[in-house]
Amino acid sequence: MDTQKAGDIMDDYAYEKEHAEAVRKMAAECTVLLKKDGQFPIKEPGRVALFGSGARNTIKGGTGSGEVNSRYFVNIEEGLKSAGFTVTTKNWLDEYDNVKQKAHKAFVKEIKARAKANHTLAIIEGMGAVMPEPEYEISLEGEGEICIYVLARISGEGADRKPVKGDVLLTDTEVRDICELDRKYSRFMLVLNVGGPVDLSPVNDVKNILLLSQLGVETGNTLADIILGKSYPSGKLTTTWTSWKDYPAIGDFGDANETRYREGVFVGYRYFDSMRKKPMYPFGYGLGFTDFECRVESADEKEIIVRIKNTGCFPGKETIQVYIAPPFGKIAKPVRTLVAFEKTKEILPGEEITVSVLFDIRDAATYDEGLAAFILEKGDYIVIVNDKPAVMLRLEEEIITRKLKNLLGKPGFIDWEPEKKEKTKETQAANETRETEKTDNTYEANYTDNLDNYDVITITRASISVETVCYEYEFPVEPEISELSDEELVLLNIGGFDPKGGLAGMIGNSGKSVAGAAGETAHIRDLPFLVMADGPAGVRISKDYIEDEKGVHPVGSSLPETMLEYLNGPARLALKLALGKGKNSGDVRHQYCTAIPIGTAIAQSWDTDLAEKLGDIVGDEMERFGVHLWLAPALNIHRSILCGRNFEYYSEDPLISGKFAVAITRGVQKHPGCGTTIKHFAANNQEYNRTGNNSRISERALREIYLRGFEICIRESQPHALMTSYNLINGVHSAERRDLCVDILRCEWGYKGIVMTDWVIGQGPFEKKGGYRNSLSEKVAAAGGALFMPGGKGDYDRLLNALKSGEISRKQLEENASTVFRMSRMLSTPTHQ
Ligand code: BGC
Repeated sequence: MDTQKAGDIMDDYAYEKEHAEAVRKMAAECTVLLKKDGQFPIKEPGRVALFGSGARNTIKGGTGSGEVNSRYFVNIEEGLKSAGFTVTTKNWLDEYDNVKQKAHKAFVKEIKARAKANHTLAIIEGMGAVMPEPEYEISLEGEGEICIYVLARISGEGADRKPVKGDVLLTDTEVRDICELDRKYSRFMLVLNVGGPVDLSPVNDVKNILLLSQLGVETGNTLADIILGKSYPSGKLTTTWTSWKDYPAIGDFGDANETRYREGVFVGYRYFDSMRKKPMYPFGYGLGFTDFECRVESADEKEIIVRIKNTGCFPGKETIQVYIAPPFGKIAKPVRTLVAFEKTKEILPGEEITVSVLFDIRDAATYDEGLAAFILEKGDYIVIVNDKPAVMLRLEEEIITRKLKNLLGKPGFIDWEPEKKEKTKETQAANETRETEKTDNTYEANYTDNLDNYDVITITRASISVETVCYEYEFPVEPEISELSDEELVLLNIGGFDPKGGLAGMIGNSGKSVAGAAGETAHIRDLPFLVMADGPAGVRISKDYIEDEKGVHPVGSSLPETMLEYLNGPARLALKLALGKGKNSGDVRHQYCTAIPIGTAIAQSWDTDLAEKLGDIVGDEMERFGVHLWLAPALNIHRSILCGRNFEYYSEDPLISGKFAVAITRGVQKHPGCGTTIKHFAANNQEYNRTGNNSRISERALREIYLRGFEICIRESQPHALMTSYNLINGVHSAERRDLCVDILRCEWGYKGIVMTDWVIGQGPFEKKGGYRNSLSEKVAAAGGALFMPGGKGDYDRLLNALKSGEISRKQLEENASTVFRMSRMLSTPTHQ
């Protein structure tokens, strides 16, 4: 646990205090109140009976490259105490610490034994591995005016979550204790300090449930503020929460090599709606301390005007969600698709405001693989505001909104789709019976009854603009690049690889100029270069470092303890020495960065202005520490709740994902010399064997779900960089797909920035045995504009050989290097922007 606290921050670090305070103000908006009985907030701090795994061991964010080394972090026990509460359950919290430490030791031992048996390194076996919550008996002694039980879960890069007790499921201990405390205390709140859904079914009857999420440095203070009503939850879920058994098992998840996305576009609420299954807490759900009444004042084919009144006793903010329910047609479609949303400003009790929300019917278009085009089928499109239909848009003919090409290959199966039935009185009655059985896979547009109640607006072909694409792309070559030798040119195509050696090739820590940065582009002649640091929950660099004539060296904190403990004796010592040299020189410098809320929590705010402000904080810290590219935001889709990195990602919905990536990018790129790197492009939805997993997906599902957020972000905010994913798509690594990296990114979407790989040292010690191979530097280079990050000697040699043998042209490498060079020139001389 860090010893310094926000109050200790000195004037030199005034920015840090300012950023932490700003995060504290915003973070409550990212929390979702799932259940309430009106007993919270309370007026005065008093005695609190505090229990649960996250009470003291609060989680500020997940593990892996998304973990931020902030100077301090306020856990929930500390947050409540500093707000004036007396915690009456110290004994329970101390005893829990003992239980946890014991279980942790046994867990590390087990990982080491597993690594030995699998002939691998414990650090690889242990990457992202999560110890399931242990079972225990600790007496629930304690007292207080309120009782808070904090249930915590962590997950991270390199491993997926599991549907077992202590991970997605609650342990017997948790269920027993939560139910007992809810019975005992009249003011009881279950607080979820988690990065993704847990199965709440055994405890769903408790009086109050708050999804706190993981909010970065100020997590504990934020909860105290909420309990005391100094701030309030106004978030809504961006992913469906329900019992584990109700999530679909149509597609594959967790196979080492092949992942068939058989469910096609029916992901998240698109699946639950079509199956007429009511999840426990649906997408878009969230309560507040107060209540609202929403009334549509007017609606047309582009704009909805809504009156919102705060009918409760507390201030609050509401979210307007606009969906389109398309007609039945030749292609099976989700019952509704989110096309726009808007978060209100704060509305006081009794106050009434008007909000306008703009939408575009083209966002409800379907990709027709037969036509290779996005189309709006003929028929009636119902526009739904929150849960109520507002207006009907009638298309009397089919409209092609974009003519494209099928580019991404075949998955080897036909997408699953719900059985389609026209709605008649008979099917309606039958459906009602089936609904209770919850086994029906009939899909119906839920909103087509009572057609007479809506205004009908006819949309003509002429009123919808149609986009055409030119699939030819010119990569300009810069004169500075033409002058380079073959070796230099290859170096510029291979990220941080340094032929002179050193630590530069270490995954996740390949920075030479900024301690703890994830990577850099090559230093060639006096050409500018780019420094890259991870995210997305803040800027991930080393908080302590020293500088000598050879450069900067992280001290101690660059590799988290969670990784160090998996190293055996000599390796651990060598690394500690390498990272710890100069520890006693008295010349340790600091780079303190702010841990902001995790990606999912940011999206739960449904407030893109808030996200832009968080991006602004990140941009400020990047500028301060000399980072050009932030390796974030991460916007893969929450396809399964088991993906270990979902906490970094925003949503099961591509519009939410795209819009939040836009907002964060705008916030970061306001800062001259700073850019985002949106990742991981694309279909990186599982961690297990992520560098060799083949995502088999239809062109339709890719274009409507998995590429869509990236498209929105590129079109609306031009992030300076984009990172491809580790996985293959329909048999070819995404980084090796020219169709993805040039035809779609640049020709269809007009992307101008850098394309880089996810961190691969493909050859040498990390070379894979069996299954699909890692991506190869010469194939990545041939895919166009891609920078192989961080790369190793083997990757450099392969590319140089390919150039010398004529397998790849010098022109291709010059084009790639020129893209990198132009960006480096722009970001390193920011006044020229
Ligand atoms: C992760 C990326 C990260 C990179 C650099 C990879 O293992 O997948 O998200 O940006 O490492 O640390």
